Amino acid sequence: MIKKCLFPAAGYGTRFLPATKAIPKEMLPIVNKPLLQYGVEEALSAGMNTMAIVTGRGKRAIEDHFDKSYELEHQLKKSGKEFFLTEIRDIIKSCTFSYTRQKEMLGLGHAILTGSTLVGDEPFAVLLADDLCDSDEKSVLSQMVEIFNKYNDCCIVAIEEVRKEDTNKYGVISGEEIEDDVYRVFDMVEKPDPKDAPSNLAIIGRYILIPEIFDVLKKTKAGKGGEIQITDALLSLSKNGKVIAYKFKGKRFDCGSVDGFVEATNYFYKRG
Ligand code: UTP
Repeated sequence: MIKKCLFPAAGYGTRFLPATKAIPKEMLPIVNKPLLQYGVEEALSAGMNTMAIVTGRGKRAIEDHFDKSYELEHQLKKSGKEFFLTEIRDIIKSCTFSYTRQKEMLGLGHAILTGSTLVGDEPFAVLLADDLCDSDEKSVLSQMVEIFNKYNDCCIVAIEEVRKEDTNKYGVISGEEIEDDVYRVFDMVEKPDPKDAPSNLAIIGRYILIPEIFDVLKKTKAGKGGEIQITDALLSLSKNGKVIAYKFKGKRFDCGSVDGFVEATNYFYKRG
């Protein structure tokens, strides 16, 4: 059973400046709900009840969001508007939150390694809240848990097909399709030039990782962009056949970019 979900949320969110100067990117709302809350709801839907969040300076709003606000509760009770808090109250009741700070932004791999103190020695999920997912039936993370349970002791990465010219924005895999939409990975490259990309199968912000990843991350040197890349650590595990890529069912919005954010806003507004 996977109980813990790690949320790396220490990045600067430069593409959203000045909005992200004092507000964490993960707290930007799609309609009336912060990105990170969508992520926590997805983790809950996949049976996880322990949320581990890697934060950084200027991210205190995240902790306040997933906590009681006595003053607000008191005011809303008086004005009969408590129902506005029902959803977030239920979330706070259903799970625990723990936090650690990444002191220097040395990359996603480093953020995940920083979270090891919160995760311990067990398989865990990683969710990047700026990749917002929606699906008709099971959530993307629930689908991935099913794949994890089937291919014991392997890391699972969620992938989607992207336009070849966009491969330089993603980690890109190649592998052997072992069943419909499931690949045994044998190569992965971080943000390859379209001409060097091994395929158009791009990794999105959903992972299930086994604890061995921490030992590998400790030894992983800075790669593309001078950052410690999770893709490089996964590549090393893939040499032992321990990485599975899963083409998920559903939709993903890149809310780390302005275009994706606007697209998600329109989609979730219409969906209601
Ligand atoms: P991004 O590459 O989107 O970086 O990180 P960013 O800083 O959030 O945004 P831009 O590119 O400056 O606009 C992907 C995810 O990894 C986390 C981010 O918070 C985001 O969820 N991350 C990245 C960390 O937690 N620490 C890091 O050192 C780097």
